[in-house]
Amino acid sequence: MTGSTPDVLSESEVLSRLRSKRGQTGYRAMFSSWLGGIVTDPALMQIPLDDHLVHRGHGVFDTCTLSDGRLYRLGIHVDRLLQSASLARIEHSWTKEDIIQMVVDTASKTGIRDGAVRYWLSVGPGGFSPSPRECPEACFYCVIFDPMPLGVTDSDPLSAGIPEVTVRDTPMKPQLLATIKSNNYLLNVLTHMEAIDLGGTFGILVDDDGYVAESCVLNAVFITKDHTLRTPPFDGILFGTTVRRVMDLASEVLIEEGLISSVDQSPVLASDVSGDQVTEMFLCGGDTHLYPVVSWDGLAVGDGKVGPIAKRLLELLEGEAFGQLLGNPTDFIDVNYKD
Ligand SMILES: Cc1ncc(COP(=O)(O)O)c(C=O)c1O
Repeated sequence: MTGSTPDVLSESEVLSRLRSKRGQTGYRAMFSSWLGGIVTDPALMQIPLDDHLVHRGHGVFDTCTLSDGRLYRLGIHVDRLLQSASLARIEHSWTKEDIIQMVVDTASKTGIRDGAVRYWLSVGPGGFSPSPRECPEACFYCVIFDPMPLGVTDSDPLSAGIPEVTVRDTPMKPQLLATIKSNNYLLNVLTHMEAIDLGGTFGILVDDDGYVAESCVLNAVFITKDHTLRTPPFDGILFGTTVRRVMDLASEVLIEEGLISSVDQSPVLASDVSGDQVTEMFLCGGDTHLYPVVSWDGLAVGDGKVGPIAKRLLELLEGEAFGQLLGNPTDFIDVNYKD
């Protein structure tokens, strides 16, 4: 390529080059409201460059889990998507039911019963100015792909746990941005990268007053010495769906089992973790991901081992999402693969 002028490509050359760039991606189906349909060829899973989602980050997204042919907790995620869209001032005419239907329809064309689901609501294509006024049509995109690990860890996080570090050079998002699940994830990515550089995994953000905020794409949960499951308030962090389920399961199951005595959402001082006030710490997100933190900035958390509460909660989260335990029937939407 160096030194030669790039060719103007024909339609068929574009298609063949797009295909040659895509091997076994595991991307099964994509819906695009811009195209008005679903594509199953990964080479065709494209978003227009002039969509403000791409060059302005003026879009929001959310996720859910396809588990044994059912979409797990899609409604809760779509509620958050709509809340994010409203805060991001994205004007569109889709209702919660419309969005659920677009995701269900996409899933029905994947041919897989287990997968990861991502979808975006954007102001749409229209030009390269900062103004969404040039975008005539809000867009919805949804992609469903084979399950993939959330982060890169060398060993099984549940048996070994993960080391964590405080991220100091990457600033925290301002409150508005932190509470919108938007396409502005540069600071989240830099948080993760700084953590890896320092020997951590996802990174822990601590505010100027010393209180724990969250991790790059996960919420933080602590078990205190007096057996309380505690997580920071949602004021300046993402309204995590998994941590909310963790709090429910802790209240419904763990108290009954005598593993904890109470659940609360209140500020957590980072110094309390190093100061022996905490027996367990873990990060959670993405419906079924839970990472026990066994060390923080080189100091052991609790006894430095994966604790019983993290183990039990992961068992409950996975059991519910993957169907061995019943879960709440309203949290599941069946996908009809026949049409
Ligand atoms: C910044 C941030 N915090 C927390 C979470 C966890 O949210 P959830 O449990 O809904 O996946 C995410 C998820 O992507 C996130 O991006």
